[in-house]
Amino acid sequence: MKKVLIACIVSGVIIFVACSPKSNPATTQETPKVKTTTYADAVQPLIQAKCAPCHLPSKGGRKADLETYGAAKQYGADMVSRIQLNPTDRGFMPFKNAKLSDDEINVFKKWVSDGLQEK
Ligand code: HEC
Repeated sequence: MKKVLIACIVSGVIIFVACSPKSNPATTQETPKVKTTTYADAVQPLIQAKCAPCHLPSKGGRKADLETYGAAKQYGADMVSRIQLNPTDRGFMPFKNAKLSDDEINVFKKWVSDGLQEK
């Protein structure tokens, strides 16, 4: 019985030592930073693809201007809630178009949660 206990403790120590992170600073890796989602990189291209022409004044759109950062950022949260509605719900966007994919919706969500960065 005692032997079994010792064997357990010994193997426990071995596993602990083998698995514990190396403290050598040269090999210590920083936790990779998740890239910030910005208007210029991710959101503007989606708006140009999915919210045209209605929200692009340069394309003759007469609805809320989402074409430039300064104008679009005030609608951040509103965009997120509208694109998550069901296409049959009132206020759904993109108006009279197919719902965005989950990945596309996540771009808007992350832009808002990252603090509505321009670039
Ligand atoms: C076919 C035209 C059309 C497209 C495409 C479209 N919208 Fe709209 N949008 C409208 C109309 C019409 C309204 C006003 C009606 C309303 O408030 O429900 C509106 C209103 C909005 C508003 C509210 C603006 C305000 O003045 O308060 C937001 C935010 C919005 N749209 C976001 C989007 C987003 C994001 C997309 C693309 C994913 C999109 N829309 C695509 C026609 C469109």
